[in-house]
Amino acid sequence: MTTYLSGIQPTGLPHLGNYFGAIAEHIRLQDVGGEHFYFIADYHALTTTPEPADLRQRVREMAVTYLALGLDPSRVALFRQSDVPEVMEIAWLLACQTPMGLLERAVSYKDKVARGLSPNVGLFTYPALMAADILAYDSHRVPVGLDQVQHVEMTRDMAEAFHRRYAEVFVLPEVLLSARPKVPGLDGEKMSKSYGNTIWVFESGKPLRKAIARIVTDSRAPEEPKDPDGLLLFRFLELFLEPDELAGWAERVRRGGQGAPGYGHLKARLTEAIEERFRPARERRAELLADPAEVDRVLARGAETARRRAVATRDRAFAACGLR
Ligand code: TRP
Repeated sequence: MTTYLSGIQPTGLPHLGNYFGAIAEHIRLQDVGGEHFYFIADYHALTTTPEPADLRQRVREMAVTYLALGLDPSRVALFRQSDVPEVMEIAWLLACQTPMGLLERAVSYKDKVARGLSPNVGLFTYPALMAADILAYDSHRVPVGLDQVQHVEMTRDMAEAFHRRYAEVFVLPEVLLSARPKVPGLDGEKMSKSYGNTIWVFESGKPLRKAIARIVTDSRAPEEPKDPDGLLLFRFLELFLEPDELAGWAERVRRGGQGAPGYGHLKARLTEAIEERFRPARERRAELLADPAEVDRVLARGAETARRRAVATRDRAFAACGLR
């Protein structure tokens, strides 16, 4: 049986980039036979030292988000990373097999340092913790985006180093890369919390309209024929409209002339489509927020399933390296 595992950082209110780039893919995979582990990477979140109240809030928001969007906890173990302490134990064993040089080559670490962040040790050893996340559950497939591929490769390196030194106790994971739509931000850059160019998945009503209003356009009149492929707005519409409808709008924009849709018109249609797409999930979210005990139960059950697996892996690894 194939085991799928992935983690997501609780970085704040999940935005459309998080949704199309990770969450939707994780939820889609539950329909593929196999075992599924998805966790909220709260230990990893600490590498950026968020406020305690914020962290607590974001972890809950992330759990609620997955459930509201359709994650089925009877088929998927959804849990908090820190509910499985064995992961920390495995991370240490891996760290002790990892040359400094390997971590120094981590692109995501180097990027953060290049952007001026002064790194703590936790950020530096992030890949060893991520490797432990993956190896703890005997994961075969790790659905991640391109930015995490190197971390999964490092996971294999660490597992192989452990195997060479001690014994074969880990399953070597593979990246599962699927075509994930690229989600631009309101300014055309990559959608990212740190760029302040996001649309929150559950945004609705006036705040949603205001966000959409910020999608960058230009001053050309509706009548002027335009190439829809060159319009940022169309990159959003593509995410939400059926191909037929999308083609219709594209054609009218390309033709221009009397009655051609202007940017305001297209933005109104986009707003409506986003409202519609997430309406059921918004309702489900409200129910879940009103019933925190239910979310706690789901996370506790997920952690129990996950822990059973992690304990077995930890025991094998402890025995192999002489701790037991
Ligand atoms: N580093 C991942 C990210 O930022 C999150 C993560 C932590 C993860 N542990 C993982 C992803 C294990 C996959 C497997 O997106």
